[in-house]
Amino acid sequence: MKLLLVGATGLVGSHVLRLALSDERVDGVVAPSRRELPKHPKLQAPTVDFEHLPEAAAWWQADALICTMGSTMAKAGSQEAFRRVDHDYPLEAARLARQHGTPTCVLNSALGADAASRVFYNRVKGELERDLAGLGFSSLTHVRPGLIGGARQEFRTAERMGVLALSLLGPLLPRRWRLNPADKIAEVIFEAAIRPSPGMHVVTSDRMA
Ligand SMILES: NC(=O)c1ccc[n+]([C@@H]2O[C@H](COP(=O)([O-])OP(=O)(O)OC[C@H]3O[C@@H](n4cnc5c(N)ncnc54)[C@H](OP(=O)(O)O)[C@@H]3O)[C@@H](O)[C@H]2O)c1
Repeated sequence: MKLLLVGATGLVGSHVLRLALSDERVDGVVAPSRRELPKHPKLQAPTVDFEHLPEAAAWWQADALICTMGSTMAKAGSQEAFRRVDHDYPLEAARLARQHGTPTCVLNSALGADAASRVFYNRVKGELERDLAGLGFSSLTHVRPGLIGGARQEFRTAERMGVLALSLLGPLLPRRWRLNPADKIAEVIFEAAIRPSPGMHVVTSDRMA
């Protein structure tokens, strides 16, 4: 099986990549990224500019596309820039993968994703889910974590405080509001890609707590 992974350098994406490279059901992973990834015999990691994706590249054809790409409002700097990374880039990658015959897509979305939401972040995530559903994948899974836990290289103040609070409160909270560890999210994503079932599926945060 061949997997296409967009967002492999991120927190969840790096866990998905680790799982995929160590799993004997996976023959190869293609991980287009803007940064270099450590070399591995099963990994092809073309350096790409997501503003100008190589439409004709043969590697868009895979058994499944996994998308764990995303930014934050603080990093992106504006709503437009955030939407570009969290909606336009993943949608374009999915369009190309689908056009080249990739049948399955698994998206790392977010708790609260809703195209009709008044909250900008939730609306962008919901619009991506909606637009991916229009591409005709035979299996499409939206994985919707709440706050993601794990060792992040960059410092995100508000997120760290949230992670700390949820870590302390964890057992007292309803499952859907608990912290979702990045490695647990990655397991769910990987399984949805490697054992796809027809139709559209949503994995809610309570299943990753
Ligand atoms: N943080 C949370 O608590 C939380 C909660 C729910 C859902 N989510 C969503 O879950 C997904 C995975 O989260 P994560 O924490 O694993 O994300 P992350 O660690 O921030 O990784 C994001 C990935 O997107 C890539 N990316 C960002 N901006 C890019 C750009 N302009 N061009 C190309 N690539 C770009 C990054 O590449 P570089 O390494 O090159 O930057 C990285 O591979 C995201 O969609 C996020 O919105 C997050």
